This record gives sequence, structure tokens and C-alpha cells, in this order.
Amino acid sequence: MGERVTVATVQRMKREGRRIAMLTAYDYPTARLLDEAGVDILLVGDSVGMAVLGYDSTVPVTLADILHHTRAVSRGARRALVVADMPFMTYQVSEEEALRNAARLLQEGGAQAVKLEGGEAIAPTVRRLVAAGIPVMGHVGLLPQSVHALGGYRVQGKTEAAARQLLRDAEALAAAGAFAIVLELIPRELARLVTERLPIPTIGIGAGPDCDGQVLVVHDMLGLYLGKPPRFVKRYADLATAVTRAVSEYVAEVREGRFPGPEHSVEMPAEVLERLY
Ligand code: KIV
Repeated sequence: MGERVTVATVQRMKREGRRIAMLTAYDYPTARLLDEAGVDILLVGDSVGMAVLGYDSTVPVTLADILHHTRAVSRGARRALVVADMPFMTYQVSEEEALRNAARLLQEGGAQAVKLEGGEAIAPTVRRLVAAGIPVMGHVGLLPQSVHALGGYRVQGKTEAAARQLLRDAEALAAAGAFAIVLELIPRELARLVTERLPIPTIGIGAGPDCDGQVLVVHDMLGLYLGKPPRFVKRYADLATAVTRAVSEYVAEVREGRFPGPEHSVEMPAEVLERLY
């Protein structure tokens, strides 16, 4: 199984030039499979809203949703570090509320760290959580929880001003004590610059190959998401087709009386059967 991955492990991986593999997970069997396949970090992302719950953004996802899924993932993770996403408006109202909500994800959910979106503006909250002993992963670039303010899921950091702001955001998070930062949907050159400048690992999604690690939404990379995946996703499997095939076969066999067959049925002992008739 290997040693448990901790925040110190992922920071050592950056220093040693070893890439970090992170995926989202939302349930027990997936967490077990990903953990056994060697994934370093399991993110209970608020992408659960779109991948599993049928919402069209991450905005409706609640703390109760993330807690529920984090408990399941924590039970399945033996080696991987479990990071729970803080949903929209669970950390912006006040530092006290952020502290209370983050603590629940660790105490009740079993996560080892939390992730929240935002840069300079959220850095004081990150500092407060870290001071209380809660490891924090930052998230800059495209911030899906701000989709309504951004007007869509667009590449970020493309102008000089936007790129400089993103650098300031990432540096502020590192200075506040974040142990790693997700870089979402930014030009690869900017991701490389951030990765070179920061002492902590960067985990890219749609941010090119030069980050210290990569993350994808597991449903996207397994081909289980029914919508059109973003351009940066690589499909490693086509589980939607596999599920449709298997279920169509089951439906046909049930309708034709071919399932269950003798090997799937239990027979009554002959002497008992005789007495029944
Ligand atoms: O919720 C999520 O899945 C995420 C990843 C896109 C990093 O935040």
C-alpha cells in the first residue's frame, strides 16, 4: 500500500521533482479503486454537483453534500491524502464561519485538508485556518464558484494585468501558509511561471504540463460524464458506453426470461419441495 500521503509528502515531492497525481472522488468504491491505483490526492470536489448530483454549476452544492461524500471517500482512502472542497459561501462570510465549516470537514468528514477558491482576498482566511491546524489547498485561475460573476468558464490570466494579479494571488496564498495550489484553466506559460516562483506545489487542470501535479474530474477522465467535456480533458476510458451496453443486455435478458439463469438461482432441497406439493 505504501506510506500515507501527507501535506509534507506532497511538498517533498515538489522538492524532489516527483509529479503529483490527483483526481476527484465522491464515493467509497471509487476512492478505493483510485487509492489502490496509486493516486496521491483524492479531492472531494464541489464538482460533485455537476458530475453526480445533476446541477449545472457548483454553486448549489452545500456543506452537507460535501460532508456526506467526504465521509464515504475517507472510508475508502488508505494511502491517498483526502482534500475536501469548501462549497460556495461556506468560507466567505467570516473567518469564524470558515473555521467552523473547515473543522467539520476534518472532524466529521475525515478529510486531512480543505480546498477553497480565491487569491489575495481570501489569504487572511487561509492564514487563520492554517494557524488553527487545518491544512489548506488554494485554487486560482478559473474559479467555478464565481461562474455567474465571470460570465462563463473562460481561460483566465491571458492579459498582462490578469497574469500579474494571478501571480500576486498565488504568492499571497503561499505566504498565508497554503500547502499547495490548484491552477485552473490558465495559459501553460503562466502556470510554469507560478510553478517556478512558488515554494509549494502547483496542481494544474487545463494549465499545461509544467505544474508540479495534475488533477482531473474522475467522471470526465473515465468517460462517465454525459455532457461535453472541456478541451483539456483526456478520456482514459469510455465507461458511459460500457454502462449502456451492459444495462441494455440486462434489460433484454430480463425481458426474454434469460436472466436469472440456473447458476444465479437457489434450489429448494428436494424433500422440502415434495412436502410442499
Ligand atoms: O471541484 C473540483 O473538482 C475542483 C477541481 C476542478 C480542481 O475544484
